[in-house]
Amino acid sequence: MNERHLHRLALLLSSCVLLVGIGWIAQQFVQGRSKHRDDQMAAPVPLSAAEVERAATLYGQTCGGCHGERMEGVVGPSLIGVGSRYSLAKIERIAQQGKGRKKQIPMPSDLVSPDDANLLARWLVLAPKGISSAPFQEKSG
Ligand code: HEC
Repeated sequence: MNERHLHRLALLLSSCVLLVGIGWIAQQFVQGRSKHRDDQMAAPVPLSAAEVERAATLYGQTCGGCHGERMEGVVGPSLIGVGSRYSLAKIERIAQQGKGRKKQIPMPSDLVSPDDANLLARWLVLAPKGISSAPFQEKSG
């Protein structure tokens, strides 16, 4: 094997390494994106009329005092369009575990059962214009 052959071999080897590297990076990228997409786009299970009713009642009793009867925000932030700011899973987690534990006004945890947290999260995400598609608007006026 002369020097030219060796040179070629080295070139071949290094391009192999390069290709594998690019492949790995591409794979990480695709995996990262699909993971992100799953979390963001997990479509909520549609609510039955009875569930909408129950969610609205729960919201009024448990969340409305802080987030506003019309989700406009009082001591807690407005929840109008919250489904476009947070994923379903994240909203469910907040509803169960609260938020801002170290802040001056935190949201307490365990306000509702895990099932109710799931219901409220789906309801919040499925009502993208906030109160406008929620049933208790009709009741109050
Ligand atoms: C005692 C008042 C209080 C109650 C009751 C309450 N929250 Fe909150 N909530 C807050 C506060 C305060 C924050 C903001 C915490 C922070 O600054 O990180 C918050 C934040 C949130 C957020 C994140 C919104 C955002 O834009 O950051 C969601 C979602 C949420 N609450 C849902 C609910 C649901 C659902 C209920 C009813 C089960 C509920 N909250 C009941 C006070 C409350």
